[in-house]
Amino acid sequence: MSEVGINKRKTEHIRLCLTDQVEGVNKTTGLEGISFIHNALPEINFNDIDIAATFLGKQIKAPFLVSSMTGGSKLAAQINQNLALAAEERGWAIALGSTRALLESEAYQDSFLIRKKAPNAALIANLGAVQLNYGYGIDEAKRIVDMTEADSLVLHLNPLQEVFQDEGDVNFESLLPKIESICKALHVPVGVKEVGFGIEGELAKQLADVGIAYIDVAGAGGTSWSQVEKLRSKDPLRKAAAEAFNQWGIPTKDCIVSVRSVLPNIPIIASGGMKTGHDAAKAITIGADMVGFARTLLQAATESVESVLQIMEQIELELRITMFGIGAKTLTDLKQTNRVEIMGKSLME
Ligand SMILES: Cc1cc2nc3c(=O)[nH]c(=O)nc-3n(C[C@H](O)[C@H](O)[C@H](O)COP(=O)(O)O)c2cc1C
Repeated sequence: MSEVGINKRKTEHIRLCLTDQVEGVNKTTGLEGISFIHNALPEINFNDIDIAATFLGKQIKAPFLVSSMTGGSKLAAQINQNLALAAEERGWAIALGSTRALLESEAYQDSFLIRKKAPNAALIANLGAVQLNYGYGIDEAKRIVDMTEADSLVLHLNPLQEVFQDEGDVNFESLLPKIESICKALHVPVGVKEVGFGIEGELAKQLADVGIAYIDVAGAGGTSWSQVEKLRSKDPLRKAAAEAFNQWGIPTKDCIVSVRSVLPNIPIIASGGMKTGHDAAKAITIGADMVGFARTLLQAATESVESVLQIMEQIELELRITMFGIGAKTLTDLKQTNRVEIMGKSLME
């Protein structure tokens, strides 16, 4: 079957993210400015290091999330199946890509129905918040959660992506009260995420005040959606304009620090440009509770469950090694460690 409309767009996104330069230019997460201070006598047994966490009321084996990527195309079905089976085995949380295609297109609906592949995983359904200005409301949000059997719905905030998309939905007016109505009406927690340009403290506070249960910062330093849409665009003006935004966005590190300073208790997911378990450890030590990976898992997800499992195990091992290297036995120890230097300033001084 040849794909059209929303299904075609999903396949194009995946293909470009696999083959092209889709990161910002000279843009980093900021995590490179953080380093741990080695402890030559950690006084813990490596084999006792515990990285288990709780998320969405579920026990998970590692503080990791397969970030929202896809659904709604043939390629997406294969990717989601591999991600779901691997997430179930490793005890990671997993998010679906935007479930709009689930309601709007009969094609490949099964690609979103991964609960049977990941019966115990903390599972998040995903919808663009802007759709609340384009005919979506409480009923659609409930249907999405019911159909996917998700533990949560995350609303993505992607104004710049939409504006660089030839077919983008750009009316972002008065969404906050609509987000509030979704938070009130759903029986599962509702979170928000960006798609790689970041959420900072002031906005996070406004969102928490209307009932948002967790913030996935999805900051800059990884996949840039102005770059991806630039590659898809057939409009010469948009294509050229996207070049001027290849450094746009709040670095992931700055998002985490900013949100945590305003909201001391809200669960924060660090994502955007996360590549290793060492990155994850840095994000956790500055305030994140969970760490999300998108494009880092994508190539493996097109190959096999085994390929995804291998990357997941590597990320877990890197987190454990970082914790060993500073003598942190639990994630609480990692959060509280003073064995860290941030932008040249040691917390041990
Ligand atoms: C192929 C692909 C498709 C994506 N589709 C969605 C989506 O449907 N909804 C969403 O909220 N984010 C989507 N994202 C954005 C990611 O969730 C993430 O926020 C962003 O890519 C930055 O993370 P990264 O640097 O780890 O890739 C997608 C990412 C990729 C790579």
